[in-house]
Amino acid sequence: MPEPLDQALAEVRELLLAPGLTRAVAAGRRRGHVPSVTRAQVRPVTLKHGPKLQIVTDDGARPYTRNVAPGAEAAAAVDELLAEPFGNWHVETESATVQVRVTKKGDAQVHRGGAVAAPASAEHDRAKQWLLDPGDPLFSVIGGNAAKRRQIDAFLRALAATLPEDLPSPLRVVDLGCGNAYLTFAAYRYLAARGAQVQVVGVDVREDQRVRNTAVAEELDCSGDVTFVAGTIEAVDLPFAPDLVLALHACDTATDQALARAVEWEARWVLAAPCCHHDIAAQLKGGATPTPYEEVTRHAILRERFADVLTDSLRAALLRLHGYRVDVVEFIDSAHTPRNLLLRARRTGAAPTDAQRAEYDTLTGQWGVTPALSVLLEPIS
Ligand SMILES: C[S@@+](CC[C@H](N)C(=O)[O-])C[C@H]1O[C@@H](n2cnc3c(N)ncnc32)[C@H](O)[C@@H]1O
Repeated sequence: MPEPLDQALAEVRELLLAPGLTRAVAAGRRRGHVPSVTRAQVRPVTLKHGPKLQIVTDDGARPYTRNVAPGAEAAAAVDELLAEPFGNWHVETESATVQVRVTKKGDAQVHRGGAVAAPASAEHDRAKQWLLDPGDPLFSVIGGNAAKRRQIDAFLRALAATLPEDLPSPLRVVDLGCGNAYLTFAAYRYLAARGAQVQVVGVDVREDQRVRNTAVAEELDCSGDVTFVAGTIEAVDLPFAPDLVLALHACDTATDQALARAVEWEARWVLAAPCCHHDIAAQLKGGATPTPYEEVTRHAILRERFADVLTDSLRAALLRLHGYRVDVVEFIDSAHTPRNLLLRARRTGAAPTDAQRAEYDTLTGQWGVTPALSVLLEPIS
């Protein structure tokens, strides 16, 4: 439910000036207004002369930092910031997270949640906390059950662990094989709340998904920032080269298409949780197993599992050869989904070493496989 903006900003003011503030970020802009700075960060610091409130503003060219004394000076500086027509405020305290988003009508959509980082003693509670408030209107608009919310929240945690503290702004994101767009909207909400100016495009081959997702974006009042394209991952034309590529359970080799496009776009970060794997499994079934590994492929279930492992190992190896630092992690417990692996890659632009090339060639050569991703990628020079 929208709330009066002045009431929401009064709540933000109170949190910014109270003890227990962890950090706050203001960014974006209200319809028809342009703040004098693109972004502001507020956090408490302890300097030689005692505690201060640090305010870092960014005019788009460079950051400007000032440290103000608690009390009247801090209150005046905070009032100045609150008077700026920012589109979003994200405030974290030791006990709460409050996000305020100004709607097109000039009201406030307020999400109140628990602390992002609880005190170390509250390990158990921390594990239960959500990155995106389960009460976020996104979920009532888009539907979805608790399991899906848990999966999306886990994916966002992996995203949070991948991105730097200071997000680039604008931050351009694509969600490939977006389906119902849970992740598309959740990533947008999460990243925008962190203060970045976020543009997200969701891509799915299904036109009905594009129509539905576009209507959801209208309903959530974010259709200017979150758009959808009906098209194939392999051929889609995006309005920008994305900084961040997401792909959650894109079917079979659609994950390879997503990784290949990410490499082509030179995306800075890639998070892809693969779905079913048939490509390498079929090649193993029809090919000759190198000695002494016959036992590994003799039984269908073992061959299938091994094919999954080999597929994702080769994907990781290929990304590495194309200038990415890669790790493969479980983003959620396997009890929630058996498809719980995540390839997490950050572009370094490093040229592959001879040892890395040789390792890849030996592995594919011994098993006699040609991964789909290798066919999609440009040959390494
Ligand atoms: C298993 S669903 C996952 C949807 C969503 N990412 C999620 O996790 O909720 C896979 C989606 O990828 C889409 N898809 C599969 N292959 C595709 C391709 N080559 N290009 C575009 N979309 C594709 C399907 O239409 C489907 O909506």
